[in-house]
Amino acid sequence: MDFVPLRIKTVQPDTELSFDLYIYYKDHYLCYAERGNALTTAKLEKLINQDMADFYVPEEQVDNVTLFLDEALNEAVYGEGKSLEERVDVVSEVAAQSIERMNEEASHKNYDMTQKAASGLRTVIKNNPNALKKLFGQKTKESDLIINHSINVCALATRLGEHLRFKEDEIDDLATAALLHDIGLTKLKVEDLPLFEKEATAHTPDERLRYSQHIKLSQNFLNGKDFISKRVEDLVNHHEEDLTGLGPLKVRKLTPLQECLSLCNAFDKRLIVKKESPKEAYKVFQLDYIGRYNLELIQRFEAVLVEEGLL
Ligand SMILES: [Fe+2]
Ligand SMILES: [Fe+2]
Repeated sequence: MDFVPLRIKTVQPDTELSFDLYIYYKDHYLCYAERGNALTTAKLEKLINQDMADFYVPEEQVDNVTLFLDEALNEAVYGEGKSLEERVDVVSEVAAQSIERMNEEASHKNYDMTQKAASGLRTVIKNNPNALKKLFGQKTKESDLIINHSINVCALATRLGEHLRFKEDEIDDLATAALLHDIGLTKLKVEDLPLFEKEATAHTPDERLRYSQHIKLSQNFLNGKDFISKRVEDLVNHHEEDLTGLGPLKVRKLTPLQECLSLCNAFDKRLIVKKESPKEAYKVFQLDYIGRYNLELIQRFEAVLVEEGLL
């Protein structure tokens, strides 16, 4: 039997499972909970806190999982009586799950799930003051660094996009592109992966070249799939570009959407890689990133950070 991974935090307590839940233990897949059963809050908390095992679902039941995640997402976005923490937790976990799935396979189903997660994340942030603050206050596991970075960029870019009054469909594409923008990193050679955690200005010319491969790799991975929006592909391709022309594609002119994604990416990299607080990162940004982005855009970004209580 083949298995697909499942992030345990996407499982809701006291909700009947529509699939068999397995754990991988000592080289074996063991059935932990059968379809039709539910996990209690206490049991789930224990599993999450112990962080002791990886969870899987038989591949033939993957469509049930997709439906299950759809419902969880819907409930987190629109359900009544949910705490802000629950909402943020579930939407970010479903987003993380969709990024992981896309990493595995850029299929139509996985792309749809990513779009839904991006839109869910956007709605929760829009409807709940303090949601962005909550998201940025979450602890990051080292193994989830790139995924969390992608979620943060999605949250920031959609807020900035709304502030700039981009069209609805543009913001949706921006959100999806943000979740997928670093998909090429997972395709880099293992020895090149630590380059993500090194500040771009500290890269040697050779390292810069190797790191910039992740753009080409994303492009190859997403290319030729007609269900992927051309605008999403274009945004992913340009996320490391800025107005200096020193990005991998060496372009000096960016569309407002491209510049918005690039700025949010550059900002969040400081938080994730240098472990700076939004306040600290913005201080540097204000001084060192002038010339890389339009001053007006930086100022609009500051307004968003203030509005969201991050400065
Ligand atoms: Fe990148
Ligand atoms: Fe990035």
